[in-house]
Amino acid sequence: MEMLQPAPGRTVIDATFGRGGHSRALLERGARVVALDVDPDAEAEAQKLATEVGSDRFRFHRLNFGQLAQLMEKEGPADGLLLDLGISSPQVDRAERGFSFQQSGPLDMRMDPTTGTTAADFVNHLSEPELRNLLRDGGEDRDPGKIARAIVRARPLLTTADLATAVTRATRGPRPGAKHPATRTFLALRRAVNREGENLAQALNSVPQILRPGGRLAVLTYHSTEDRAVKIWIREHSEEEKRELGMAFGHPNPELWVKPLGEAVPTDEEIATNPRARSARLRGAERRNERSA
Ligand SMILES: C[S@@+](CC[C@H](N)C(=O)[O-])C[C@H]1O[C@@H](n2cnc3c(N)ncnc32)[C@H](O)[C@@H]1O
Repeated sequence: MEMLQPAPGRTVIDATFGRGGHSRALLERGARVVALDVDPDAEAEAQKLATEVGSDRFRFHRLNFGQLAQLMEKEGPADGLLLDLGISSPQVDRAERGFSFQQSGPLDMRMDPTTGTTAADFVNHLSEPELRNLLRDGGEDRDPGKIARAIVRARPLLTTADLATAVTRATRGPRPGAKHPATRTFLALRRAVNREGENLAQALNSVPQILRPGGRLAVLTYHSTEDRAVKIWIREHSEEEKRELGMAFGHPNPELWVKPLGEAVPTDEEIATNPRARSARLRGAERRNERSA
């Protein structure tokens, strides 16, 4: 909230509505909120909120944030953009959505279950080298080759338990206190199924169409690949970096300058009350009009 500075007269886009915790906090501070999510369950939740607060204060669009620029042609530029990336607790807790290795469900992993390719399609149809590349690029698995081989041998994989078992067999198995051995594999697949890297890049690159000068961007990430992408994007567009490298001309986005607003991680107390926040990292930036010096 400090980064986004919600207040009466300001419009903030909550591009990852989920169950609406952030939208509610923004509304409580007087901002007008335009919210987005691809998940039909999120849409149902958003409709309740729209009934409570009215459409002049809150509007929801079931839309991928990769397409935000088109929406802004209708909604006009905003004062804030919030991206709380990844999946929501209700998505991971409902076994039938197929995100969880704790509870078995169909190997689905689509945030929008009405369209696109499922995780089962990827694990059962990609070639071994394609799978290895997917795991290497998306989840930082330490030995993607070994896991890809184990997946191909265990085909067909139908449930999240089938996948978790295949990965556990290929690795040394669960170690006490360590993350489940399939954590990174599940992350890589989820990212591929939902095209998370591409959508994030598109949303960031449409900041000039979305945010007014002085508007603020806040991004919450939950793993290092995503955090790195946000960190690099902010650095590449920051005034200091551009000045130092003489990047104003020939830069892919010469009209966009930002001022970094720093970063934050949860405190120990916050992690104790909300363990799912443990890997969160928040980064922010303010859009500048143009090069200020
Ligand atoms: C971490 S949760 C957000 C939780 C939310 N801040 C809350 O207070 O409940 C991320 C949400 O973003 C949605 N999402 C992820 N990628 C998206 C995308 N490319 N476009 C739109 N929504 C997306 C997911 O469906 C999920 O509901």
